[in-house]
Amino acid sequence: MKAGNNKKRIGIFGFGCVAQGLYDIIQANPQYSLEVASICVKSRNKTRSLPETRFSYDPQQLLQDTTIDIFAELISDADEALAIVRQALKAGKTVVSANKKMVAENLPELVQLQQEFGGVLLYEAAVCGSIPVVRLLESYFAAEPLQEVRGVLNGSSNYILSKLHTEGISYPEALAEAQALGFAEADPILDVQGYDALNKLCIMAAHGFGQVVPPQKVLHFGIQHIQPEDIALAQAVGARIKLVASARHSASQMLSLQVLPTFVLPDDDLFVVDEEFNGVQLHGAYAGKQFFKGRGAGSHPTGSAVWADVAAALAGFRYSYAREARAAVDRQASLLQLYVRASDARLLARVPLQEVQSLSEGHRDVQLVGTISGAELFAHQERLEQAGAFVALLPAGLSHESLLAASAKRYQYFV
Ligand SMILES: NC(=O)c1ccc[n+]([C@@H]2O[C@H](COP(=O)([O-])OP(=O)(O)OC[C@H]3O[C@@H](n4cnc5c(N)ncnc54)[C@H](OP(=O)(O)O)[C@@H]3O)[C@@H](O)[C@H]2O)c1
Repeated sequence: MKAGNNKKRIGIFGFGCVAQGLYDIIQANPQYSLEVASICVKSRNKTRSLPETRFSYDPQQLLQDTTIDIFAELISDADEALAIVRQALKAGKTVVSANKKMVAENLPELVQLQQEFGGVLLYEAAVCGSIPVVRLLESYFAAEPLQEVRGVLNGSSNYILSKLHTEGISYPEALAEAQALGFAEADPILDVQGYDALNKLCIMAAHGFGQVVPPQKVLHFGIQHIQPEDIALAQAVGARIKLVASARHSASQMLSLQVLPTFVLPDDDLFVVDEEFNGVQLHGAYAGKQFFKGRGAGSHPTGSAVWADVAAALAGFRYSYAREARAAVDRQASLLQLYVRASDARLLARVPLQEVQSLSEGHRDVQLVGTISGAELFAHQERLEQAGAFVALLPAGLSHESLLAASAKRYQYFV
């Protein structure tokens, strides 16, 4: 976006956390000559920080305003967001969005609409807030064969996990704090059950690996069933539990995708990603490993990503979606070393875990470690979730023996 007199007009949908961040940035940078034409919101009886005349309640008023050069879709309702973006793209317009659910679940249609009608859709803010990961995968690393992209992608669940580790507060208290600070989605299920990280992972897989995978086909567990004993066990072996999403070329040249709570050890880049921060580790065949850390949520950090997209789109940038898939998606997935805790031993007996070792003989909940294929875990995902089981991935560097030893040491105080 060049500074100058040639004013461009932006229509903003939504005036919540992200849209207000974008608005602040636009107002603080008049040299870029971007003028807010109008702001479309839903509720007529909210107290606003701007005069009533700045707002509209009818999306059509903005969508049909031919003086608007670019739209920012920043509303919390994914279905309504899709309707707005669809209409704008069918009119060949340029749109910037932060809505990962809308993008991940409808990517084939959104790509096709851009190709058919010539419009542009950018969505950097939808993945890891202020970390420019989509553009990095799409543009800078366009020619680099990637081996793995993994990260802590959800600021809200990371904030909750950080508080459980450092302050020992309860899960509901930590969730309430994350919501009060604006890190959690309007519906926190999206965050804590892993859907938000899953949607971001699918967007990264499209740009980094050329694979458009429907989120519902990807293995994912959330953090909603975590208990203090899970945190205590992780701490006893020097690990921190984090919700980690990964897309990886396996040894058999297949692409494995998953979102799992994970015991992260201090030698892992993701160990230092705390609070609402996000972290992304890229492993390129030639570039090697790189690590990016930044604010994944919040008004100004996310507004900054939207602002960067607005500038890029006005300068003529668009996603090429040119990366060719090098590998098929691995529905079997490789073997996973898991930690599982559940109150229902009969349920766990029906999950085909191999090499099972119990960590909790004689205690209320069953805690165990074992091995299972990603496909088997996927097949039992719903049952485990419904039964309130907490499932976490164990890294290669963490042996079952060290967990058994740490667990035995902890429990000797209780018997
Ligand atoms: N918060 C973050 O840190 C963050 C980070 C990355 C991405 N995002 C994404 O950014 C988007 C916005 O999130 P947010 O946190 O800013 O949400 P928010 O604070 O809950 O605000 C949502 C805004 O959307 C408006 N809205 C909802 N339904 C609408 C409709 N049908 N028509 C017009 N306006 C409507 C609301 O209007 P009223 O004001 O009238 O209620 C409100 O202004 C979401 O897709 C979210 O996933 C958020």
